[in-house]
Amino acid sequence: MIKDPGRRYSFGFAGVAKYVARYRELRSEACMSRTLKRENIKIMNRPTVLITGSGGELGHGLIQYLSAEGKYDIVGLDLNEPANQDGMGRVEFHKGDIMDRSLLDYLFDRFNFDYVFHLAALLSTSSEKNPARAQDINVNGTFNLLERARKYTEKRTSPVVFMFPSTIAVYGLGSVAEKTRAGKVKEDQYLSPICMYGVNKHYVEELGRYFSTTYGMLESEQRRLKLDFRAVRYPGLLSADTIPTGGTSDYGPEMLHAAARGIPYSCFVKAESRLPFMAMPDAVDALIQLSRAPAKSLSRRVYNVGAFSVTAEEIYREILNYYPDAQVDYRIDPKRLEIVESWPADIDDSLARRDWGWAAKYEFRNAFRDYLVPGVRKHYGTRKTEPCYAVGQA
Ligand SMILES: NC(=O)c1ccc[n+]([C@@H]2O[C@H](COP(=O)([O-])OP(=O)(O)OC[C@H]3O[C@@H](n4cnc5c(N)ncnc54)[C@H](O)[C@@H]3O)[C@@H](O)[C@H]2O)c1
Repeated sequence: MIKDPGRRYSFGFAGVAKYVARYRELRSEACMSRTLKRENIKIMNRPTVLITGSGGELGHGLIQYLSAEGKYDIVGLDLNEPANQDGMGRVEFHKGDIMDRSLLDYLFDRFNFDYVFHLAALLSTSSEKNPARAQDINVNGTFNLLERARKYTEKRTSPVVFMFPSTIAVYGLGSVAEKTRAGKVKEDQYLSPICMYGVNKHYVEELGRYFSTTYGMLESEQRRLKLDFRAVRYPGLLSADTIPTGGTSDYGPEMLHAAARGIPYSCFVKAESRLPFMAMPDAVDALIQLSRAPAKSLSRRVYNVGAFSVTAEEIYREILNYYPDAQVDYRIDPKRLEIVESWPADIDDSLARRDWGWAAKYEFRNAFRDYLVPGVRKHYGTRKTEPCYAVGQA
């Protein structure tokens, strides 16, 4: 219920009236039938999960995983409906904006969220093109959600677990020579991001730590049950199911999807540009595993998770094993290249391995052989039947 919205938010009378009207609208049946894509989930005594960015690449993989487990009630929130609803099971989708505070209040009032997976974001290239929007979505929108989850935690006996996908964009290496020298970067090294997205994500990591530790330090003890914020820093993600948009590591998945569709691809970084990457099922596993790790085993709130480190040319050569007529040329975008060159060649994930048993299932070769190529073939059809590896090579 809204008790005193005027006190809770610093917007003026018109803003309050709009907020109340919007909240009432959200509660009305008429709106419910517009916003829900599927039959309402039945609220049972099962853990409930909110997934923002549920229409995106990672959201798609996470919902598929949780739906298959069948242990959770799942609520999705995204600006867009999911393009691909394969394997999504019973999920209640809400089409809406994380900037819509009345919508967030409505969702937190209606559901007993045990977990929030906050995936909604503007990715790196899109953020660089529109830093004000990036600040709004990546920082202010996240603050809205952290604040709701924190308030809601006060009503509970255990904290809401707030999962956040951070990124290697939080790192900023000064030059290619430094990048080469640095090798596998640890969590607390080189935290000087050059791009807006990295700045946003790094700030949110700090916000999450604050909300989970010192928030409310001037208040009385009984109001101090904290949020349980946990984050993974991902490398570039490679999905067989969806084509990414707006990221700077997108050349990896774009190259594969172009080859599968039989169209040439112009790569915007150099052949020798190197980044760490991870297959989408491992990205989902990392988020799930960290969300379930006992709090006492965690020595920090933000963990690097790694899988394999490859150059653009190595990705192209691997694709040629499956699509021998794949065509890639290099048409460098100097600005996007600069961003890629500031990100580490690889990341040290030994703390995640030690604290919660992280280990990627997919290395470079088996990611293509067992996940990416079979997945894209399912989508686009089989253009070439077998990989052209020499015997024993894979
Ligand atoms: N894809 C990668 O390589 C990668 C790497 C590191 C971290 N991440 C992080 O993982 C998360 C998911 O990434 P993804 O690859 O699925 O990206 P994506 O772009 O496919 O999905 C993001 C989703 O967020 C939604 N969204 C954006 N603004 C919103 C708003 N204001 N309100 C509600 N929904 C909104 C978009 O509609 C989109 O469906 C992001 O936080 C991203 O920063 C991704």
